[in-house]
Amino acid sequence: MVPFFPASQVVNAVSPERAVEAVRDAFVAYAQGEWTMPPKVYVPAYPAGDFRAMPALGGGHALLKWVTSFPGNPARGLPTVTGLVLLSDASDGSLRAALDAGAVTALRTGAAAIVAAEELGRRDAQTAAVIGAGVNGRAAAKTFLARGRDVALWDVDDERARAAADEIGARVAGSRQEALAADLLVTVTPGHEILLKEGSLRPGQHVSLMGADGPGKAEIAVEELARVRVFCDDWEQASHNGELVHAVEPGALTRDDVTQLGDVLVGTAQGRESDEQVTAFDSTGLAIQDLAIALAAMERADALDLAVIDL
Ligand SMILES: NC(=O)c1ccc[n+]([C@@H]2O[C@H](COP(=O)([O-])OP(=O)(O)OC[C@H]3O[C@@H](n4cnc5c(N)ncnc54)[C@H](O)[C@@H]3O)[C@@H](O)[C@H]2O)c1
Repeated sequence: MVPFFPASQVVNAVSPERAVEAVRDAFVAYAQGEWTMPPKVYVPAYPAGDFRAMPALGGGHALLKWVTSFPGNPARGLPTVTGLVLLSDASDGSLRAALDAGAVTALRTGAAAIVAAEELGRRDAQTAAVIGAGVNGRAAAKTFLARGRDVALWDVDDERARAAADEIGARVAGSRQEALAADLLVTVTPGHEILLKEGSLRPGQHVSLMGADGPGKAEIAVEELARVRVFCDDWEQASHNGELVHAVEPGALTRDDVTQLGDVLVGTAQGRESDEQVTAFDSTGLAIQDLAIALAAMERADALDLAVIDL
């Protein structure tokens, strides 16, 4: 009997606070070589969207996430990100759980954005904003709130921003400019429009770039990326399919210019170097983050009334 966590039970099992802790630990375990992860495989179905197969191994378990990014879906009343997470025992291969991939993704994406912001942002950062009030932007905003930080939301769709802000107890930014100027900025848009043009980030600002996680997407101009201190979740993945690819291909950035977040967390690489430095974190989303959430959900399995799959 394999427990199934629908979206609502993933949310019941793992709080944004617990997600931050679990995702931070996963970045550390990966940087120390304890958890492993082949790069995700993209299965393009453009122009509609793409599928991703994301495996990882760690904590005595193996995981596979089969998940989508179909940016046009919300207009049809369907989610951009959907799919399934499978968690197996790494000692005998038995399937231990299945989880809703959209909910796992939102929790871990929100957590990664805030782990990066807290680690790389200025210690005295005051303001926080999230641009893009969709499923994953909302998760990032909820995570800021769970960490005791006031957050402003902004979206091209004003109604969406208002509904999201009301739902989670955040506020709507007075303008796009106000949101873009936050000390800790998180962008979670479909990546069809450059939000951050050359020279737009202020000294001392941090941005977690979450939206551009696949081919053809960008939220920051190459010139701006080349001007700031750049971090990523995983070089292998981000340099091929993230924001970085636009800067790496023409040679504006090389491997030596980019620091992995996990290396900062374990202390083998330096994070922010001064109060004036601008830091940017490029996230493509890692299967180890999903593994962290799936394992955290399993800790609560006995306390929840879960449906089971009889295999
Ligand atoms: N890095 C990661 O780990 C990760 C994880 C999940 C999703 N994503 C990516 O994040 C993006 C958003 O995903 P989602 O599930 O939240 O999508 P969504 O469709 O639920 O939300 C996207 C939101 O962005 C808004 N938007 C569009 N263009 C904008 C602009 N120019 N300025 C401000 N707001 C704008 C839309 O109105 C919408 O509210 C997608 O590209 C997805 O692939 C990345």
